[in-house]
Amino acid sequence: MSNYHIKHLEEYYKVYRKSVREPEIFWEEIAEEHFSWHKKWDKVLEWDFTKPEIKWFQGAKLNITENCIDRHLRTKGDKTAILFEPNDPNEKAEHISYKQLYERVNQFANVLKDQGIKKGDRVCIYLPMIPELAIALLACARIGAIHSVVFAGFSATALSTRINDSDCRIVITSDGSYRGAKTIDLKGIVDDALVDCPGVKTCLVAKRIHSKITMKEGRDKWLQPLLDNASKNCEPEIMDAEDPLFILYTSGSTGKPKGMVHTTAGYMVYTAYTFKNVFNYKDNDVYWCTADIGWITGHSYIVYGPLANGATTVMFEGVPSYPDFGRFWAIINKHNVNQFYTAPTAIRALAKQSLDLVNQHDLSSLKVLGSVGEPINEEAWHWYNDNIGQKKSPIIDSWWQTETGGIMISPLPYVTPTIPTYATLPLPGIQPCLMNEDALEIKGNQVEGRLCIKYPWPSIARTIWGNHKRYKDTYFSAYDKMYFTGDGALRDAVGYYRITGRVDDVVIVSGHNLGTAPIEDAINEHPAVAESAIVGFPHDIKGNALYGYVILKDVGTDRNHDNLRKEINQIITEHIGPIAKLDKIQFTSGLPKTRSGKIMRRILRKIARNDTKDLGDTSTLLNPEVVQEIMDNALR
Ligand code: PRX
Repeated sequence: MSNYHIKHLEEYYKVYRKSVREPEIFWEEIAEEHFSWHKKWDKVLEWDFTKPEIKWFQGAKLNITENCIDRHLRTKGDKTAILFEPNDPNEKAEHISYKQLYERVNQFANVLKDQGIKKGDRVCIYLPMIPELAIALLACARIGAIHSVVFAGFSATALSTRINDSDCRIVITSDGSYRGAKTIDLKGIVDDALVDCPGVKTCLVAKRIHSKITMKEGRDKWLQPLLDNASKNCEPEIMDAEDPLFILYTSGSTGKPKGMVHTTAGYMVYTAYTFKNVFNYKDNDVYWCTADIGWITGHSYIVYGPLANGATTVMFEGVPSYPDFGRFWAIINKHNVNQFYTAPTAIRALAKQSLDLVNQHDLSSLKVLGSVGEPINEEAWHWYNDNIGQKKSPIIDSWWQTETGGIMISPLPYVTPTIPTYATLPLPGIQPCLMNEDALEIKGNQVEGRLCIKYPWPSIARTIWGNHKRYKDTYFSAYDKMYFTGDGALRDAVGYYRITGRVDDVVIVSGHNLGTAPIEDAINEHPAVAESAIVGFPHDIKGNALYGYVILKDVGTDRNHDNLRKEINQIITEHIGPIAKLDKIQFTSGLPKTRSGKIMRRILRKIARNDTKDLGDTSTLLNPEVVQEIMDNALR
């Protein structure tokens, strides 16, 4: 028998040791007992981090939607699978049972088939947080199509780049979306994007805000009538364990976004196992993750992980501030939420509001509080613990990444004693280590270094779509035979991990990964801009915000700087999306550069964070005089 659900600390250590000593036996037992397969695997794991190549459960045949839906029908057909809470609190919440989900996924799958979509085709999904979004993912998986969800806050340019990178045939969107008191013209964004996407022949449009939109003849089709006419039965496509399930883009420190490819069996096993343990999910619990399905957190812990466990998963369309800053707490109260999973940036924003907005609501249903996406600072941790959990619900500070597919380092509730700001211990199967600047492993405790993982786990991304070399260079080249996370971490006296933040040029703003180079590329397209450099600096709600240093082409230009700042942020909004806007823009005559022409970002980071007492060694700078100028004019 596998130890599927870990219940106390001693058991955790025992299971963890087994998972390291006998990883294949460990995962095989879990896979055997808790999932349904058309055919079992020939080999549990084959791997080589130098190529890199990772294969889990090779030879196995399955369909993930049978595991997420069909196999629950007999015992849980009437149980709510997806509980949809609309943006407007006066609109009725929708309870979609497993049986209804089965029918709706099959109808959607049949619609995709009718549009000519088949196994292996890429389907771009650009939808707000409405049930059709989760259903679209599952419909793709039903027929073996590879979904590529693009977060509906990305701009038309960002969308078209992603559509073209993975050569999507079809886009699924809606007429628009609600965001608090505002509406957003999603279809208009898609129309703009598709001008640059000759490969897209079809666009399916869900009706949500009932706005007037233009439908392009031959390309655009309303989704609902097609669904209404589709059969509620759709035989699942039998997939190989290593067939791609989805592509999800994440930004890198340089270049275009990376389409991380996740495959079927390992991803299913790992997200299901971690969901059960990290949230201590029990059969009648109501679980709510506030992420958007456009990010990995939503894929793994709104859709696949919960549904594979037959859970009730809440999908919330709106924002935490509408109609007031008590909305999250009102929803917990209304639906008796037991597990609540959110991001530190939301906690910090809500902690700034009056406590009355919390105390009006009964939060006694809560049993587990989760945090994800960025380090949670001590103040936010305590506020969350004291006011939301009332010191009764353990806080699960879960560390992981788009690339890891599932939670890697995290306390287990009621098992692992928590310490604020610590993600604590690796989950079973995860072998983290810390590396020093000389690429040597730092052994022992009370040490700090770069976080790597030594051994494969089932949900690791297998490649970057269309660019395996980049996958190797980004994750497997910094350290020999190791997956490099890009994060720094420390390990304390008892072996707990604390994530200290990115060590590359990715800045996490409000929990969103933003590579600085693509934003610089966008800014440099402004006709007045000669060059730019962007760094992060601490921000009390967003965690980090962006600070841009910009050299204008025509020094001494009398153009209004405030207008230029607006135009620069407008360009960023158009190229990437509003999430990447700069908080501060300083115009400067130069940037500190080494003799080889590299911008010394270390100095710019220190100036942005107003920490200029010791700028470190500047002797290799080509233009040291510019540092004083930048410091004198720094924006505070
Ligand atoms: O820097 C780490 C940070 O978020 C990065 C991954 O971002 P993304 O791929 O967008 O996935 C976010 C959701 C899984 C990591 O490299 N991060 C994530 N969780 C934590 C964290 N930093 C500190 N503590 C966390 N709990």
